[in-house]
Amino acid sequence: MPNEAPAIKAENLTRRFGKFIAVDHVSFEVRRGEVFGFLGANGAGKTTAIRMLCGLLHPSGGEAWVSGLSINQDSRKIRQRIGYMSQKFSLYDDLLVEENLDFFAGAYNLSVADANKRRDEILKRFSLEEVRRRLTKSLPLGWKQRLALGSAMLHQPEVLFLDEPTGGVDPIMRRNFWETIHGLAAQGTTIFVTTHYMDEAEYCHRISIMNYGKIIAMGEPSKLKAEFGLPTIQDVFVHLIKGA
Ligand SMILES: Nc1ncnc2c1ncn2[C@@H]1O[C@H](COP(=O)(O)OP(=O)(O)O)[C@@H](O)[C@H]1O
Ligand SMILES: [Mg+2]
Repeated sequence: MPNEAPAIKAENLTRRFGKFIAVDHVSFEVRRGEVFGFLGANGAGKTTAIRMLCGLLHPSGGEAWVSGLSINQDSRKIRQRIGYMSQKFSLYDDLLVEENLDFFAGAYNLSVADANKRRDEILKRFSLEEVRRRLTKSLPLGWKQRLALGSAMLHQPEVLFLDEPTGGVDPIMRRNFWETIHGLAAQGTTIFVTTHYMDEAEYCHRISIMNYGKIIAMGEPSKLKAEFGLPTIQDVFVHLIKGA
């Protein structure tokens, strides 16, 4: 049953930098169409983990599969199948909004016809039509964030990796962004999203909480709160960190 296979599976995924272990034997599965939140404080190892899953950084140990492809063996294929919105947006500030989309369409090898079609779809879906001829650097952060997400999904990836997509964005924009993400998941896209905003756990179907490279809790936000008898994920996080 291919549809039952997890969209992402990690087994003891590990990354060392010298003697320092940034990601320490991390294991989890993400279902197709799931919004999986990868929570942790700054320095927990979120970006290092996401870069390994995207096939951009070799693991020191362990294995992971994305859409059934091994990150150790098929990293090139994985990079074509996924969308990745990096923590530092990869947009070109000196290009127009529509030129950024054209650039990424080229990077994903879309035909001219497909590129034009997808560009117009993305501009519409993310309410960017009115700014399509504006310089990217002139956009407010929340708009850039939408453009960065749109750029990451021009090629209609099965799995989207979003690294702190809401960092520095105001609460209303953050909420809108999460609504967009849920719309994508409802259509079958798998979303792996990192955040250090503990309140954003509530927007995720399931979360894991990472601390110093290790996953210290995982599950549905409501179940985790019930398990620890605490009202918020922020409280659960603080409780776990104190115990660690
Ligand atoms: N290339 C690198 N060389 C050495 N240490 C690194 C490197 N990349 C990340 N680290 C360290 O690994 C830890 C985890 O970093 P990172 O994955 O960026 O965490 P997060 O994204 O959760 O903030 C940090 O202590 C960071 O300094
Ligand atoms: Mg990071």
